[in-house]
Amino acid sequence: MYVCVCKAVTDHQIRCAVRDGIISFRELRMELGVATCCGRCAPTAKQVMAEALGDEFPERPKAVVLPRSRACAFA
Ligand code: FES
Repeated sequence: MYVCVCKAVTDHQIRCAVRDGIISFRELRMELGVATCCGRCAPTAKQVMAEALGDEFPERPKAVVLPRSRACAFA
């Protein structure tokens, strides 16, 4: 599915970027351009990224995306 309509970024692309070594939202923005236009996709993009990081690094604590926040924290 499309996560970022402005930059035509899909959840698959986000998961692939994480698999290729992207570990921060800043890096994801620079790599794919997600959330660099209107920004409405940021919460969903962060959630997809957090899930992908959890899948990629299952030994790490589960990622938690805080509501109405730009921060992504780990519990
Ligand atoms: S939908 Fe992603 S920047 Fe607008």
